[in-house]
Amino acid sequence: MTKKRLTIKSSAFATVTVFLLCVLIFTAGAEDLPREIRIGVAGPHTGAYAAFGEQFWRGASQAVTAINAGGGVNGSTIKLVKADDACEPKQAVAVAQKLVDQDEVHAVIGHFCSSSSIPASDIYDEAGVLMISPASTNPTLTDRGLPAVFRVCGRDDQQGVVAANYMVDVLKAKRIAIVHDKDTYGKGLADATRNRLAALGVKDVLYEGLTRGEKDFNALVTKIRQVKADVVYFGGLHGEAGPLVRQLREQGSTAVFMSGDGIVSEDFVTAAGGGTFVNGVIMTFGADPRKMPAGRKAVESFRADGFEPEGYTLYAYAAVEVAARALGATTSTDGFTVARWLKANAVDTVMGMKAFDAKGDLSASDYVIYEWRADGSYGTR
Ligand code: ALA
Repeated sequence: MTKKRLTIKSSAFATVTVFLLCVLIFTAGAEDLPREIRIGVAGPHTGAYAAFGEQFWRGASQAVTAINAGGGVNGSTIKLVKADDACEPKQAVAVAQKLVDQDEVHAVIGHFCSSSSIPASDIYDEAGVLMISPASTNPTLTDRGLPAVFRVCGRDDQQGVVAANYMVDVLKAKRIAIVHDKDTYGKGLADATRNRLAALGVKDVLYEGLTRGEKDFNALVTKIRQVKADVVYFGGLHGEAGPLVRQLREQGSTAVFMSGDGIVSEDFVTAAGGGTFVNGVIMTFGADPRKMPAGRKAVESFRADGFEPEGYTLYAYAAVEVAARALGATTSTDGFTVARWLKANAVDTVMGMKAFDAKGDLSASDYVIYEWRADGSYGTR
């Protein structure tokens, strides 16, 4: 009798064990998403480039409002965590560490400056956290092969080619002065543009670095005038581009001023001292996301709130959509699992379908030429 009871017990035990093993095998790799998904929004929320932090925050916040209102990510709600790097590499590393250790974020939208994104990406990689930069265009960010690092913008080796082609083919520039801000992005873009110019047979007449944070560029402007530049190409951000173009005009230079995505904020107009100074400035940037049919509703909603979704606003929105879609599809918060899915599946966003290559770059680049106008707005040329 005792022996029989023992046999029944052990066979029940075996059944339960087999059942548990099956559950384990079939659910391996899948997890439940936490009820609250935390996403960091890292960028310059204070300091000279805070206009871009605001673009990120506005874009990401609106995306979260829309996603949460539509049922969240498989029922989980997204909460954003603001992280201010002030576009300073050391601060970027510190806030990245905090996002990972203290805030325990499940993904990061950021950073803005490539010189912040690149060192911060090492922290996210080590923690296995998905990182999607809406705006960092320096090639190094994705060229290092970190598997869970993505961007929803182009690369400066694409942007520089478009800029150089335009200067040579359309502006027919003969005497190009190249100025950069010595930072990863600014110098990188200036060099990419310079390389392309060289390939087109045009050698710059001046190549100079300026110091970020300075406001008096009169000595540099004098040099630019001395070399009789017909185009000034600037690699850097609006905080320096503004005073530089103003001082050029004040010294009587009529050279065309051209720059890249680092000036795509109305704060460029303020930094220059008004629309008169930015009038005619040429800029490369991705195809205007405000004009894409997929974003029509979102753009209307930003405008109804009194905010013009300029520059990288919709890129930040799209980055949140990409993260949310991938987390939802994989039901995982492991950055590497999510990254594998993103490299195999395109995502529908406010900027249309976005597909990524093996490096985490967009599979298509869409740089076009814009011109700033005297009323302080910019539009395609
Ligand atoms: N595209 C700029 C950068 O990479 C904002 O720093």
